[in-house]
Amino acid sequence: MSVSQSSNAYIYLDTNRVISPISPLLFSGFAEHMGRSIYEGIYDPASPHADERGLRKDVLAALRELNFRAMRYPGGNFLSGYRWLDGVGPRDQRPRRRDLAWQSVETNQFGTNEFIEFCKAVHTEPMLGVNLGTGTVQDAANLVEYCNAPAGTQYADLRASHGYHEPHGVKYWCLGNEMDGSWQIGHLEAAEYAAKAREAAKMMRWHDPSIKLVLCGSSSLWMATYPEWDRVVLEWCWDQVDYHSLHYYAGNPEGDTASFLASSAGFEAYLDTLAGVLRYVKAKHRSKHDVYLSWDEWNVWYKANKPADMQGGWAEAPHLIEEVYNLEDALVVAQWMNVFLRKSDVLKIACLAQIVNVIAPILTTRDALLKQSTYYPFVLFSKLAAGVALDVAVKAPLYPTAKFGDMPLLDVSASYDEAANAGAVFIVNRSQTDSVPVELRWQDRAPQRIAAAHQVAGADPKAANSFENPNRVVAVKVTAPAISEGRASLTLPPLSFTALEVVM
Ligand code: AHR
Repeated sequence: MSVSQSSNAYIYLDTNRVISPISPLLFSGFAEHMGRSIYEGIYDPASPHADERGLRKDVLAALRELNFRAMRYPGGNFLSGYRWLDGVGPRDQRPRRRDLAWQSVETNQFGTNEFIEFCKAVHTEPMLGVNLGTGTVQDAANLVEYCNAPAGTQYADLRASHGYHEPHGVKYWCLGNEMDGSWQIGHLEAAEYAAKAREAAKMMRWHDPSIKLVLCGSSSLWMATYPEWDRVVLEWCWDQVDYHSLHYYAGNPEGDTASFLASSAGFEAYLDTLAGVLRYVKAKHRSKHDVYLSWDEWNVWYKANKPADMQGGWAEAPHLIEEVYNLEDALVVAQWMNVFLRKSDVLKIACLAQIVNVIAPILTTRDALLKQSTYYPFVLFSKLAAGVALDVAVKAPLYPTAKFGDMPLLDVSASYDEAANAGAVFIVNRSQTDSVPVELRWQDRAPQRIAAAHQVAGADPKAANSFENPNRVVAVKVTAPAISEGRASLTLPPLSFTALEVVM
């Protein structure tokens, strides 16, 4: 990134300047048994929109549009107290339990098999977690047998008796959740977790050597144990795992929108540190094996995080952390996804936390559905970013921020899909006041045209959608700029995200 002396900006693109293939799993989601995410969100037999399985048809349609490639489940903090056997078999025999994580009543009417059905319905790949809080390594191995082994032994036969003779073939597995956190049910020190995760991984792989395993990394960069936790657990488990997780929730509690809109600098620093830890451990082990990063919980979350927002009062499906998203949140989500492309060499999985009602792009009432502001940038990336990520050079004017110093007004990423002869450019204008004229220059070749330009923008960073006014912050089509001799010019309004569809 370099500074532009004028108020104009320049974006330089070259299809030979490749960062990495883009992993489709960067566009994944996370659904937890928490609040109204599963019950009243995904599964609501009492809704007029429910299908014969109790799944909300309007929710399924919106989730299909979001095009999640994998779905992490069943938690979250919930995972660390979950007994998976509670959630399989005849529904009328499933126990009602107290969920200690969210102080709610879990009815277990939705469990592993219902989740697999849900994944099929939204065309996504399941990514299951095993409980390494109260659960044992044997419980973890049993769940892999239940899901992935052919019928003929105890847990695989149990699955068959529940109506699923063929294995589910679940490929992605998380070894616990946020085990570094003192709030976690069954929290462990790094060396204790590493030893348990390693044994669980071995047993799970013995059942099915084709599975891919995700180790618990730091649950935030604010943890006192970060990044030492990551070094310790990776050193123990390096050869047994394929991905290492990180979690983070961004926020603007101070009302410092200038800094909030520069959040991508913090996201990149977090990934750079963990990429360094991965390189260190790989070198220490003299290993040829690679471990990649899985940002398997990310989102904006700071408004609905008071104790009352997180404790369910022992109710079923209480209203928990139903964050309302505004324009500035959507612009941070867009930057986060820009970072995913820019760091696609090391980051291979990213799960938006979460998908319905609980810190989610979709809110539901029993008979209605609302798309929040963050829905729109996610859809545009998920639909348009494909092929390889390009190493874009950007010249843009700077603006001051309290948290990150001087930052460029534009945050940019781009992709190029040779097979589809298509490209995409994603641009956030962080200015709260100024339009930024920008020229795009393709350096190695001149694309044919820009087929479409989509924009999420507005004058008020706090503008949000509501059931009464659902279209305040949406993506609209704007005039696509013409390309002449490999150059295109457009003016980006303040507080905007623009996605360009390019025909190469
Ligand atoms: O997504 C909400 C919660 O945030 C998850 O349960 C936990 O893993 C994280 O702290």
